[in-house]
Amino acid sequence: MIRYSQHHFKYIQCIYVCVFVCVHLTSGNSCCCSFEDYKLTTEWLLNQTSHRPKVAVICGSGLGLLADGAANKQIFRYQDIPNFPVSTVQGHEGCLVFGTIEDTPCVFMQGHFHLYEGYSLCKVTFPVRIFKLMGVETLLVTNASGGICPDFKVGDIMIIKDHINLPGFAGQHPLCGPNDERFGIRFPCMSDAYSKDLRRVALDIGSELGCSDFIREGVYCMVSGPNFETIAEARMLLILGCDSVGMSTVPEVTVAKHCGLRVIGLSLITNKVSLDYSREEKVNHDEVLEIGKMRAEVLQKLVTTLISRCQQQSINTH
Ligand SMILES: *[C@@H]1O[C@H](CO)[C@@H](O)[C@H](O)[C@H]1NC(C)=O
Ligand SMILES: *[C@@H]1O[C@H](CO)[C@@H](O)[C@H](O)[C@H]1NC(C)=O
Repeated sequence: MIRYSQHHFKYIQCIYVCVFVCVHLTSGNSCCCSFEDYKLTTEWLLNQTSHRPKVAVICGSGLGLLADGAANKQIFRYQDIPNFPVSTVQGHEGCLVFGTIEDTPCVFMQGHFHLYEGYSLCKVTFPVRIFKLMGVETLLVTNASGGICPDFKVGDIMIIKDHINLPGFAGQHPLCGPNDERFGIRFPCMSDAYSKDLRRVALDIGSELGCSDFIREGVYCMVSGPNFETIAEARMLLILGCDSVGMSTVPEVTVAKHCGLRVIGLSLITNKVSLDYSREEKVNHDEVLEIGKMRAEVLQKLVTTLISRCQQQSINTH
């Protein structure tokens, strides 16, 4: 008869936990969409519209207006598009808007999906692959985030230079599961996720618009949310080299980079994350809204100019 020592039991227990965690992680991550699903949605959209967008914009809070400025608009509600995820949050806009900005054909997502709402990352990033299949070349992501870098002020616009995918470290990654080579390779390079050329262009436009004093470059960190960070967590993020923190953007960027889209990201700093136990940073909500409104205009101008320039740039470099 085999005698199990306590050591053996610990060992078996450990394996059991590991297997459980692995099964749990992969089952939560297995992709919910087949290539045929992506193809069907793309074909449906291409059948319904004559627009052939080159630039896709994921509109963050307060930037929905951006799409309103487009010409020859055609609007689809998410719920009417086959396979498209539908926002569960009440009052959250859910529209895909096709149109042109200064002759550049664009598609805008008004309202996007968060991990904390309970969507799988495959659903969250579903639209990005649709854009790719529709012929989009550049993805522009915009969102709001909390400032970690002590130099940042509320109202600063941060050009995303790089990101830290914290949920990805824990296995919540949109590319987990079998890889579909038709979209991209198994182990994509992420060291150049945010186009250096487009970041340069964005900085130039910023100085032309006279807003260099509140345009920054920095590292965005994604957390899953929905709660905001504790002070200890915020301090950890600062030590890790994060300049701002938010609950979105990174999965979309990862999937975009995987399928070969050029990416540029802009994040509006809407509040400062508290890093200090003794100094309670009471955010003045009215002030935040006011600055948000004021900066949204600048951000809109920045994005509009960026859209037309990035198309010129892509023509010049091809
Ligand atoms: C798109 O249009 C073609 C031609 O009319 C049709 O055969 C096809 O079923 C349509 N596809 C979708 C997904 O609507
Ligand atoms: C942008 O990020 C903020 C903070 O992380 C989040 O509350 C908001 O819902 C996001 N915007 C959109 C349009 O989802």
